[in-house]
Amino acid sequence: MQVSGKTVVVGIFGDPVAHSLSPRMQNAAIQASGLDAVYVPFHVTAAQLCDAVKSIRAMSIRGVNLTIPHKEASCDLVDELDASAQMIGAINTIVNDNGRLKGYNTDSLGLLKALKQELGCDVAGKRVLLLGAGGACRAALVALCQAKVAWVGIANRTRNRSQQLIEEFSAKFSGTAFAEYELGSSLLSSCYEPVDLLVNTTSVGLKGEDFGFLVVDCLKPGGAVFDMVYTPEPTMLLNQARKRGLATADGLGMLAAQGEAAFALWFGQSPEPLVMRRALNLSDEI
Ligand code: ATR
Repeated sequence: MQVSGKTVVVGIFGDPVAHSLSPRMQNAAIQASGLDAVYVPFHVTAAQLCDAVKSIRAMSIRGVNLTIPHKEASCDLVDELDASAQMIGAINTIVNDNGRLKGYNTDSLGLLKALKQELGCDVAGKRVLLLGAGGACRAALVALCQAKVAWVGIANRTRNRSQQLIEEFSAKFSGTAFAEYELGSSLLSSCYEPVDLLVNTTSVGLKGEDFGFLVVDCLKPGGAVFDMVYTPEPTMLLNQARKRGLATADGLGMLAAQGEAAFALWFGQSPEPLVMRRALNLSDEI
């Protein structure tokens, strides 16, 4: 990679950021496309976020991804929000057009694409149970509702968060039915009609832990489990699901898909097919 005065700079702001897989897959895609660009990880703390976003303009950075803990706070720092990002209330991508910053959330698209690619799952008309009620859940909710799921259940440890989400989203998406549960062992008895798809949007599993009860029992035979957590692989949740013969996928496919969408926003062209997936050691079979 030759860096010159003309090289276009994109990157990621996060704290921590050293663990991020995005530089690996974005730089692989940049090279495969023959672009004169580079993707740089920037360690930006919450206290520095405002200055860091201003520096995008000052240093003519073409755009950035945002990761923990910046996805929500960044919404107030850009000039404009894409409609879906506004509904989600969180952004993972900023595009700088001549000093005007627009925020997008490519996690939503990424989830739908990964469900299709990894699980062959088209969510239209399906019953989907979401675990969690944070920012990742909001991105999933917007994606699923826009893709016309029939029913969404939200199970969260802190129940008033899931209740608030249902209130907000049922007012916006009249074509989808909603239900709310406590994320605990009582979930299985209250969720009496089995679901087609379970999506974990919580951070449970990141440290190798499980939910403490068999979440996968609320799935139909032939159902599928998608875990946004991708390390350690496989998560306890996916292990449980595999033991029951259910189809499973972790969040790596979603990571690649959200990255492909961000690349297209910055460079006005799609990355070469499969390059980001290969950089994450994902299979070519989609
Ligand atoms: P993100 O933006 O990544 O979604 P978040 O807004 O902090 O992050 O949300 C984290 C989600 O993981 C929440 O739904 C949280 O549940 P609470 O609302 O009860 O905090 C969930 N979560 C985190 N640790 C959990 C745990 N040990 N058990 C169950 N849920 C957990």
